[in-house]
Amino acid sequence: MTVAVANESGTVDDREVVTDPPLVRIRGLGRVFETAAGPVTAVRAIDLDIRRREFLAIVGPSGCGKTTLLRMIAGLETPTSGRIETGSAAADRPVNAMVFQGHSVFPWMTVRQNAEYGLAIRGAGKPERAGIVDSLLETVGLIEFSRAYPHQLSEGMRQRVAIARALAVDPDLLLMDEPFGSLDEQTRFILQDEVLRIWGETQKTVIVVTHSIDEALTLADRVIVMTAHPGAIKDVVDVPLARPRDQATLRSDPEFGRLFGRIWDSLRSEVLEARAASGSPR
Ligand SMILES: Nc1ncnc2c1ncn2[C@@H]1O[C@H](COP(=O)(O)OP(=O)(O)O)[C@@H](O)[C@H]1O
Ligand SMILES: [Mg+2]
Repeated sequence: MTVAVANESGTVDDREVVTDPPLVRIRGLGRVFETAAGPVTAVRAIDLDIRRREFLAIVGPSGCGKTTLLRMIAGLETPTSGRIETGSAAADRPVNAMVFQGHSVFPWMTVRQNAEYGLAIRGAGKPERAGIVDSLLETVGLIEFSRAYPHQLSEGMRQRVAIARALAVDPDLLLMDEPFGSLDEQTRFILQDEVLRIWGETQKTVIVVTHSIDEALTLADRVIVMTAHPGAIKDVVDVPLARPRDQATLRSDPEFGRLFGRIWDSLRSEVLEARAASGSPR
């Protein structure tokens, strides 16, 4: 809807505003790590509102602070400056679940035990866990592998287990750190479709960190481009591509190409800077 908004200088203008309070409001967020070699600023001056039901992607060069930012949003890392607030003061902190980078399932647990893990540590009883996890394993196509161990599965199946485990606690906010980074392209497409379908059905808020501009555009409503280390927000790109999104038609949409160019333009200099700083050849 359109309303009159008074800006800071006291003048009034007409603007589109979303009246729903954001799920997460981040202001002046920063993280400095104390190391033997001195303080390392991982993330600095992050201002960001995350809307309810939004699909947000974060791209940035290696080492720019993406994981640190995600961990702070998840409450796993303490900020050294700024703050993270939930949308309304009355609401409890949203339930978060994270799909970690790399190996994120326990090798000594079966598929079912892995998927139940988050529920078990929250104290859910056995029958409740079984009901929730059955339906989730069905959703991610693993019900027949409930009793298998991770080493008996493909990498793509293991990532499905990690996603099922995160979804089992019915989080408001699902945080995924390069969840498909180690998968082949075809498996990635299938899992992207699955995540989009689940997101569409459950109306969760999702933040995904990815190395892939293509993946960011396939999934997200907005793409955050971060600067080279120490990471700040360089650019925020809206992705107005129609949903539901289809892998094939998406890539033939001229808007997809235009957005890809815009993001790569922004990211390229940051990647070059990160490579120069780490002594890598360009
Ligand atoms: N626990 C830590 N202690 C010291 N430095 C850290 C720690 N975690 C991350 N860093 C540093 O912070 C920076 C950002 O790291 P990270 O968030 O992992 O980046 P990204 O996920 O974008 O690759 C890097 O320079 C990294 O070395
Ligand atoms: Mg990382």
